This record gives sequence, structure tokens and C-alpha cells, in this order.
Amino acid sequence: MRKLAQDYLAILKGELAGLNLTRILDEEDFYNKQIVDSLIPYEQSKFFAKELADKKLLVDIGFGGGFPLVPLAWKEPGYNFVGFDGKRKKADAVGLICERLELKNVRPMHQRVEEVLMDRDCVITFKAVGKIKDLLAKIFVPHGTNITVFFYKGPGLDQLEDLSGIKDWMQISDEFFDVPGTEKRRLMGFKVVPRGTYIPSGLKKNLVNASDFL
Ligand SMILES: C[S@@+](CC[C@H](N)C(=O)[O-])C[C@H]1O[C@@H](n2cnc3c(N)ncnc32)[C@H](O)[C@@H]1O
Repeated sequence: MRKLAQDYLAILKGELAGLNLTRILDEEDFYNKQIVDSLIPYEQSKFFAKELADKKLLVDIGFGGGFPLVPLAWKEPGYNFVGFDGKRKKADAVGLICERLELKNVRPMHQRVEEVLMDRDCVITFKAVGKIKDLLAKIFVPHGTNITVFFYKGPGLDQLEDLSGIKDWMQISDEFFDVPGTEKRRLMGFKVVPRGTYIPSGLKKNLVNASDFL
């Protein structure tokens, strides 16, 4: 894990210097707040690794500088990892990072989540992208597709977000982890209902099918 952090940071400070992919550039901070923080919830959760072993495909939405996408792909070379980010610059930069780190199982893409029909069974992750209720409403899932979503959150979630009235998703987990050098991490999981999510009429024909490119 230390070697991954060192190699990652060398690329950010070298070839990609000036892109501002992450503000955390101190070696110890980068190790704890980006690499360890991406992996601890996966390694310690009672649910996350089990879900991924079942689906074998993870889609990380809003990966930014590559988190948790790249550390998770590094950790699990036997599974497939795809990233969606709304900013092309970030998708291209993280693509280059994966090439340099010689990770063959990960594909960072320029894609907004609300433009996709998520018609493939997978695990979705969000870390520092937005509010749970707003983001769940942007994931469009057809009947019969099995999707689990995990949100990486901070301990102040209850004060910051209103989780009442969430539709089409059932909460399946709520766990807390210690991450060295950071505030506690909270991981909350949701599963889509079997009938899928509400998809506004007129929108469906404009969505791209995940199964066409995942
Ligand atoms: C604050 S960054 C978080 C980066 C990373 N997950 C982390 O924890 O370091 C949020 C990222 O989400 C992306 N984003 C926001 N809304 C999105 C959407 N609807 N679909 C895809 N990406 C989105 C932004 O472009 C940005 O790169």
C-alpha cells in the first residue's frame, strides 16, 4: 500500500503537476486520507467485499483524482472497475495514472451518472460527490437489475443530510471505521428495489445502456 501511495504521488507531482487533481500532496497525508481511506471501508465492512465478490463489477462515480476507484482496482485485480466522472480532464488524467501503475482492470470514463441506464448488476460507490438522496435519484435502474450502492461519508452525516423519503432504494448497511489521521469514516449501503427505479417518461430513450460499454 505504501508503494502504491508513493508511485501515485510521484505521478501527481510529476507528469500531472499543475492539474490539481487532489489538494492532499503531503506523503503521509496522501497515504492516509486517499489510499487508506479508500480501502479501509472495503476491507473492514461486513457487506462491501461480499457484494463485490457477488457482482465482480464496481462502478465508482465522481472519482475525481481516482478515489476510491484506483486503490480498489489495485487491491482486487480479479474484478472489473469502471469510473464515471463528469469532467473529461479528470477521466483522461486518471486513465494515464492507471496506465503508469500498470492496472489492467480499471477504466476511468468521462460520463455523467444521470445519462446512463444502469442495466448491469454491479456495486456503485460514491465518495465526496454529493448528498445521498440526490445521488440515488440520479441512478436509473431497470426492473430486475441487482445494484448495491455504498456511500463513503463522514461522521456528521446525520446533521448534514436528510435521509427521509428515499424512494426505490432500501438501506442495507451503516458502518463506522477508524481511518488514521482523519475523522471517522461512515459507510452506508443501499440496494435497489426489485422493480427498479422510477425513470421519468421521455428520459429513457435518451439514456445510454451501461451494458453497451461495461
Ligand atoms: C469532490 S470530487 C470527489 C473525488 C473523489 N471521489 C475523492 O473522494 O477524492 C467530486 C467529483 O464528482 C464528479 N461528479 C459530480 N457529479 C457527477 C455526476 N453526476 N456524474 C459523474 N461525476 C460527477 C465531479 O466532476 C468531481 O470530479
